[in-house]
Amino acid sequence: MSQRNQTLGEFIIENQASFKYTSGELSRLINSIRLAAKVVNHEVNKAGLVDILGAAGDTNIQGEDQQKLDVYANEKFIQTMTNRNIVCGIASEEEDDFITINSQDENHQNKYVVLIDPLDGSSNIDVNVSVGTIFSVFRRVTPVGSPVQMEDFLQKGINQVAAGYIIYGTSTMLVYTTGDGVNGFTLNPAIGSYYLSHPNMQFPEDGRIYSVNEGNYIHFPQGIKDYIKYCQKEEGDRPYTSRYIGSLVSDFHRNMIKGGIYMYPKSSKASNGKLRLLYECNPMAFLAEQANGKASDGFNRILEIEPTELHQRVPFICGSKNMVEKAEEFMRNSQ
Ligand code: AHG
Ligand code: MN
Ligand code: MN
Repeated sequence: MSQRNQTLGEFIIENQASFKYTSGELSRLINSIRLAAKVVNHEVNKAGLVDILGAAGDTNIQGEDQQKLDVYANEKFIQTMTNRNIVCGIASEEEDDFITINSQDENHQNKYVVLIDPLDGSSNIDVNVSVGTIFSVFRRVTPVGSPVQMEDFLQKGINQVAAGYIIYGTSTMLVYTTGDGVNGFTLNPAIGSYYLSHPNMQFPEDGRIYSVNEGNYIHFPQGIKDYIKYCQKEEGDRPYTSRYIGSLVSDFHRNMIKGGIYMYPKSSKASNGKLRLLYECNPMAFLAEQANGKASDGFNRILEIEPTELHQRVPFICGSKNMVEKAEEFMRNSQ
């Protein structure tokens, strides 16, 4: 049973028995993510001091090269998971190829692979707006004892055993699921512990917020244009409110709490939209479904898409169930 004022550490121990596979490996993996998140959080919080400490590309006072935060976050997450020897492979939005991790004894005994968007919404860093980290965890499909293969990463989202995000916002939160609902933990920076602040998070079935980059309106498919006009129409509880931060993590987080829909459709300029299936859409779709929401490419469930390449992009519509279904209806009707 989850209870308030419980720390993430206590929650992981108490819930370990309800994980599908209870070797403790998944618990250790979540633990390493929360640790890396604290380190990245510290660095993100210092971003405003860039004029004083030096910008990316400069050399700092200790003679170290300053890095862009997305590169820094990428290194921290990879380092933490590699050093602790708990996964057999990592794929990252920031890396061209997946990384094979040899366990200490070179026997490749670990069972899980992690896919990660180390810094989501990175263009918001310079303007002091919330950014995030997104992660997705699968059990490998190739035999334990051998190096990981591409097929371990190119799995349908439905196979995820865990997924979550960290939001570096006004407060820092870790929100994740292991397939048994969604729970949110807030970091108390004074003592470095995460506390269960949002147990059993749920999307309201209906919402009144739509989030989309309307600057691209002219390039959107007709179904999306029609749905946006529907959101803006004065009728019943409409017009809806428009909110778009430009950080998927932040837009999703707000919509989950308040009720809303996020859309990154395909356009006449980008035939599959912008967001990556493996690092962004799958983990967010798993969280959405676990929180009673929905995620679609306009026609199909995101979690059932068969991936063909690591950096594949897909159109993405996600949020409150009734809103996503309405958007899908407009997509179908425009065909
Ligand atoms: P990233 O910083 O990892 O590249 O992701 C940015 C993504 C997503 O977070 C955001 O919702 C979207 O790109 C914004 O794109 P536009 O600026 O095209 O609206
Ligand atoms: Mn991203
Ligand atoms: Mn990113």
